[in-house]
Amino acid sequence: MNLLLPLLSFIYSFQPVACWGDLGHRTVAYLAQKYLSNEAAQLVDVLLPSSNGEDISDAAVWADAIRPHFPFTRPWHFIDALDHPPESCQVSFTSDCGSAGCIASAIQNMTNRINDDKLDKDEQTEALKFLIHFLGDIHQPLHVEALDRGGNEIHVCFDGRCGRDENLHGIWDTDIPHKINGLKHNLKHNEEKEPAAQWAATLFQTNRFRPRHAECSDIQNPLECAMLWARETNRLNCDYVLKNGVNWLEDNDLGGAYYVGSAPIVNEQIYKAGVRLATWLNALAAQRSSMGKLVKQGGKGRACFEL
Ligand SMILES: *[C@@H]1O[C@H](CO)[C@@H](O)[C@H](O)[C@H]1NC(C)=O
Repeated sequence: MNLLLPLLSFIYSFQPVACWGDLGHRTVAYLAQKYLSNEAAQLVDVLLPSSNGEDISDAAVWADAIRPHFPFTRPWHFIDALDHPPESCQVSFTSDCGSAGCIASAIQNMTNRINDDKLDKDEQTEALKFLIHFLGDIHQPLHVEALDRGGNEIHVCFDGRCGRDENLHGIWDTDIPHKINGLKHNLKHNEEKEPAAQWAATLFQTNRFRPRHAECSDIQNPLECAMLWARETNRLNCDYVLKNGVNWLEDNDLGGAYYVGSAPIVNEQIYKAGVRLATWLNALAAQRSSMGKLVKQGGKGRACFEL
């Protein structure tokens, strides 16, 4: 798996606008950063040392950038809930995860790998980047839905843009987040960092009086938390995303009333993803320090635990 890392800088140079579009993922990461304990902030510094201006938000979009080159990672970004929205919504690990894995098993895997002292530092770094990304994706309703490939095959219009490239999945990944922030839809990769930082600051501010202690934080049972989040996210497909049915979605421009109703949902989901990611990383950092003090070995750039 060390193979993945050298590709990183190479891939950045031609990364297309991707999925939650990059804006959403970057925002989740910046928001989580605001809630990190000192220990967790240190863990992030150790595993994601910043170089040439890269920060936690670059780590958040890495999993999408490498995805085309590593097809076996594709199923880790979603879970195909085989339900019947809008009539009934449900997602089950045993029937929906599949043998190639899914977002819930990937969260479990990466959670276990971050503090696995049998892995070298590069592998733990990869695990952290995957985890930051998947905690975002599991809050996007259409990443927890099998119908029409998570809405990828539902062709829609948004603010007059119709056609092959506009589909319901993409609207939720990118168009709605961009419109919330008053951004044009075809931003370049490096134009998203500043608006993402601003969006995170706004979400931090508007939610400043909400309690955070109730979030699922049992890193010993990652599947339980992951499926709790997945079920909550999946519900939104019946409650809003697919509520009016596929025909209605295809026949109406979604940049109007549909957008207005979707914006608070997206704000809430990005907020939750940020808070939950921070809660998770705080728990991982606490576990790590209880395992022993992390020390850097000279020379090989490896990390090890001093017990
Ligand atoms: C866990 O992640 C590693 C590294 O990405 C991967 O090689 C392995 O197949 C994953 N295992 C499961 C069960 O998903």
